[in-house]
Amino acid sequence: MSLTTIIPLLTTDRLVLRPIHNDDVAGYTEIWSDPEFTRYFHRPTDPDGVWHALAGCMGCWVLTGVGPWSVVEKASGQLVGQAGLWTEPGWPGIEAVWFLRRDRWGRGYATEAATAALTWVFAQRPDLTEVVSVIVPANAASVRVAERLGMAYVRSEFLHDEAHAVYAVSRAGWVTPTTRQQAYG
Ligand SMILES: CC(C)(COP(=O)(O)OP(=O)(O)OC[C@H]1O[C@@H](n2cnc3c(N)ncnc32)[C@H](O)[C@@H]1OP(=O)(O)O)[C@@H](O)C(=O)NCCC(=O)NCCS
Repeated sequence: MSLTTIIPLLTTDRLVLRPIHNDDVAGYTEIWSDPEFTRYFHRPTDPDGVWHALAGCMGCWVLTGVGPWSVVEKASGQLVGQAGLWTEPGWPGIEAVWFLRRDRWGRGYATEAATAALTWVFAQRPDLTEVVSVIVPANAASVRVAERLGMAYVRSEFLHDEAHAVYAVSRAGWVTPTTRQQAYG
């Protein structure tokens, strides 16, 4: 993959997935500073650390051709989280990733955003046989998002000094889940 990599803009019923911007640092710092948010998901909480983490996200796009998007809520225009893809050396594959600011939990946004990313990557990469998700087992909400995406538990792996459950959905098994928008009105 080269520097000509283009990060597409994806839209869903309620969300826009757009490239991460330099001026997203304040929004991510606020999201990651919530102790409830970081219970199972460790992220820097100072603006300098946040900037470097976001630079890593953009680096993932450049180096691998996949990466995460900033998730913007259409109704408010607000940055509400991040979703998309991730991979790094030693990772179990291309991973679907998701997180939301706490006041947007429980609306089905994570499933909706991840669905757009999975649909995109399966179309973009004809050779891709599966997409995984790497989750701390106690993170019940995230496990539920994986299940809603049709992922099933595959095995346990020790990654970044922590035990993680690896979930996966195969290309053959990928069926776009119905968004939960109706359920949440
Ligand atoms: C994981 C996360 C994105 C889920 O967001 P969400 O808005 O609650 O997701 P959804 O609305 O799609 O709900 C997903 C499911 O989890 C369930 N759920 C939510 N919180 C739960 C909890 N604490 N325990 C058990 N189930 C929970 C919901 O009821 C829903 O289940 P259902 O489909 O059977 O109704 C959100 O909790 C988050 O951002 N957490 C912090 C960051 C993080 O851990 N990211 C994932 C790293 S792997």
